[in-house]
Amino acid sequence: MKRLFYLFAFWFPILSGASAAPGDKHIAVETQRTALVIRISQEGDPTIVYLGRRLQSPADYELLPDNSKRGEDYTKLYNSAYTPAGGRNLLEPALQIAHADGNPSSDLKYVRHQTQNGADGVVLTTVFLKDPQYPFEVSLFYKAYQQEDVIEQWSSIRHTEKKNVRLQKYASANLYIPAQRYYLTHFHGDWAKEMNPEEIQLSAGLKVLDTKLGTRADLFQPPSFLLSLNQPAQEETGEVLAGTLAWSGNYKIEFEVDPLRNLRLIAGINPYASEYTLAPGKEFVTPAFLYTYSSNGKGQASRNLHRWARKHRIPQGEGNRLTLLNNWEATYFDFNEEKLTTLFKDGKKLGVDLFLLDDGWFANKYPRNNDHTGLGDWQENKQKLPHGLGYLVKEAESAGIKFGIWLEPEMVSPKSELYEKHPDWVIKLPNRSEYYFRNQLVLDLSNPNVQDFVYGVVDGILTKNPTLGYIKWDCNAVIYNAFSATNPNPSHLFVEYVQGLYKVLDRLRAKYPTLPLMLCSGGGGRVDYGALKYFTEFWPSDNTDGLERIFIQWNYSYFFPAIATCNHITDWGKQPIKFRTDVAMMGKMGYDIVVSKLDEEELQFSQEALKTYSRVKDVIWQGDLFRLVSPQTNDLASLVYVSEKQDKAIWFNYLVGNRYREGSQAPIQLKGLNPAKKYRIQELNIYPGNNSPINRNQTVYSGDYLMTVGFNPQVDARRTSVVLEITESN
Ligand code: DGJ
Repeated sequence: MKRLFYLFAFWFPILSGASAAPGDKHIAVETQRTALVIRISQEGDPTIVYLGRRLQSPADYELLPDNSKRGEDYTKLYNSAYTPAGGRNLLEPALQIAHADGNPSSDLKYVRHQTQNGADGVVLTTVFLKDPQYPFEVSLFYKAYQQEDVIEQWSSIRHTEKKNVRLQKYASANLYIPAQRYYLTHFHGDWAKEMNPEEIQLSAGLKVLDTKLGTRADLFQPPSFLLSLNQPAQEETGEVLAGTLAWSGNYKIEFEVDPLRNLRLIAGINPYASEYTLAPGKEFVTPAFLYTYSSNGKGQASRNLHRWARKHRIPQGEGNRLTLLNNWEATYFDFNEEKLTTLFKDGKKLGVDLFLLDDGWFANKYPRNNDHTGLGDWQENKQKLPHGLGYLVKEAESAGIKFGIWLEPEMVSPKSELYEKHPDWVIKLPNRSEYYFRNQLVLDLSNPNVQDFVYGVVDGILTKNPTLGYIKWDCNAVIYNAFSATNPNPSHLFVEYVQGLYKVLDRLRAKYPTLPLMLCSGGGGRVDYGALKYFTEFWPSDNTDGLERIFIQWNYSYFFPAIATCNHITDWGKQPIKFRTDVAMMGKMGYDIVVSKLDEEELQFSQEALKTYSRVKDVIWQGDLFRLVSPQTNDLASLVYVSEKQDKAIWFNYLVGNRYREGSQAPIQLKGLNPAKKYRIQELNIYPGNNSPINRNQTVYSGDYLMTVGFNPQVDARRTSVVLEITESN
């Protein structure tokens, strides 16, 4: 019996309580509620021994078992903080390289670490690692946003070997998460059907989320996911990690349930066709992987990311946004100055802040009258706009609204003067026929001359038209036939494309720090926090059907805040304008309709809705989001934004199914209010001629009552969308 025990304890060290050995070092990366703990063994190996709720006493981290072992880790590397390939590693690596002498292995030992306290509770921990046999170093960066409970993690690689080192895989982050079971919610889609969630239980081995599309990289799968531990997390309960890679190109996120049933997570640039040659003395810095851990469900995880994004990432995340009228669906390519000036007046009549001129205003030799020609030739089309953009800016301003413009500066049409002049600026392969996505090709942004050109196009327009108030930056093609005619390292193209794009955007942001910029990619083909460092807002989808949008916006809301989510009221979908307006209001509202076609009541309703929006938008933009009833599993969608002071809330309810007598038959319990406060409820956006059954009721409710018993918004087939304002009452 005794013998059996010893055997057992040897093979299953967790039962014998294997924890830190004397001399092991612990590096705790902590936010208010979360801790990530790195253990450095006496041999200098950095391993992750904890990711979860922060413990009260840091001394307790020393008690943590090595890696929640449920068996033997033959390599002592399963939980490496940055798994090097080629040596004793048996699992998916974070780093795979070939040294200058051809040695295909690496080993990373701890050298030192440092902690720097920044402003606003941001603490940066850097762990310096080095190969004991080579002058090759990796630094791991962990930026902990204390108040928002978000960790931003990336790495940098450098060496001083005699010749170049080949980087074959260079992840941003490598985490280790022990749990009984793992449930991954990932999102998939295509044009006009972005962000469809799918939840799966991870089984032993690898599950990969990735893209190889180059540009418009998220068309099929965005780099954002929810990972529930032990059981599927709900909105307000359960353990969940929400993660996303801040990179606008090819990415790869790997989830590996290892032989010990623990989860290894590796996230970074996709190594596919992207071997990177690193010269001695140069540094390669990876993009950041962002994550938040919540033990209170998905809702808390989203609120953490929203607060972080508004405060630390998105330009003017805590500032203002402009409502706008876009002409894309109203005119497509068919417009002239006269038509546009009428639309400016319509925009003013409606009550929006800005008119946004979409595609079709440029190119002369190959006029942009359809989507086959003209991209790259960014001069006003003389037939449509004989007096140029300057004239339109002035006309709009004299009509009382600002003027903004659409650009797609990374792209080129095969029929364009730009292509004729600079064929070597275009991404394409010799000896292969050209293959088009939306009839166009992509410019090679890894080429500094192309970067200058793209910067020059945007800067030129802004310099000539200093009061231009908005740019919608589109990107409609993926990269086919990936090859650069000018890049000395062809396998750098995918990486240096994105770096080139960011260089252009850095230059633009340095000169135009406050310009509103919309991130668009044929809908939501590029929604990530790498790009959202530069863009004030993003276009989630070309699908603006009110019903579809509830789902699309709901799913983006797991990761991105309302202030950045552009929702337009268009003619897609059969729902009445009230429904489409109520849906658009749960984010950054805009229009893409022919205002003159609205009847009197529709116009009056829309004008009033814009006024209401301007009064309540701060609660929607800056408030905390609570998703109450999911359209995914119900015939109803319900969500509420609550102001930080808990004195105001805007509550959105929609009918998403049309079965007989569907609706909100019972009260819905609210969330996020102050139980001790008293509140009144008023219905907003009431259609002319209608009465609200809710506004007849002047009852004052306690927050406690509303969150425990709830309130029925009275959604039904006659009231398919109901927007309510909840206001503190004394
Ligand atoms: C795709 C965008 O998503 C649309 O909103 C519109 O701008 C078109 N491109 C214009 O070509």
